[in-house]
Amino acid sequence: MSFGRVVILLGAPGAGKGTQAKLLAESSGYLHVSTGDLLREAVRQGSELGKRCKAIMEAGELVPDELVSQLVEEKNSSGRADSGMILDGYPRNLAQAEFLSRVLNGVRPKTIRIRVDEDQVVKRLSGRRTCSGCGRIYNVFFSPSAKGEAECEACGGKLLQRKDDREEVIRERMHVYRQQTAPMIGYYSSRGDFFEVDGNRSVSEVAAEIDRLAA
Ligand code: AP5
Repeated sequence: MSFGRVVILLGAPGAGKGTQAKLLAESSGYLHVSTGDLLREAVRQGSELGKRCKAIMEAGELVPDELVSQLVEEKNSSGRADSGMILDGYPRNLAQAEFLSRVLNGVRPKTIRIRVDEDQVVKRLSGRRTCSGCGRIYNVFFSPSAKGEAECEACGGKLLQRKDDREEVIRERMHVYRQQTAPMIGYYSSRGDFFEVDGNRSVSEVAAEIDRLAA
């Protein structure tokens, strides 16, 4: 498996990783790999993996590393990461970061941390709606669909609220982030090619900066 540019988007729940990863994938042609999306798809399909992950995800905990590693390897073996790959929500702890470094086999990723104030997070997550058809992400407060709260303006698909976007689960996800994912900031910043962007600005301002950094 060969890799072009590898970009890791790192940030707390609701920082805008998914939103920005989709935009960067469109502008760059890089493969977007979201472990959250892959796991939610497995849950929707009712696969063995999905059955093992459903309750863990709904509680806001991390899925076991070996299951996530298996997913990432399967995605990589599709061979579409030649020009580049954007990792969104992965790696999530130091064990996953070490695994990734073995998979990348000498390719050094660019890591972009999206920083966002905690008071923004609850509003962003509680207002998030995702299209069940095309995956487009909306927000009832900041970026609603022109077709109302229930319908995607792009494809007409139904807009859904994630089960882990309830307030008590959001709190647990933030706790897990602080304990397990935030240490990756030190891990990657000490390795170079590490950048931070202010994610409190508009989607387009953040996207412009990420485009420039990822180039
Ligand atoms: P995952 O899907 O990765 O969730 P997350 O990391 O908690 O991140 P989110 O998807 O909630 O937020 P985001 O940063 O992508 O924000 P978004 O762009 O959507 O993981 C879910 C679960 O799966 C985990 O809890 C775990 O159980 C499991 N899992 C996944 N990966 C795993 C792994 N590697 N290991 C183990 N378990 C794993 O934006 C949020 C909202 O804000 C949207 O409504 C958007 O429209 C809005 N918004 C975005 N940017 C802006 C802006 N600049 N201004 C205003 N609104 C904005």
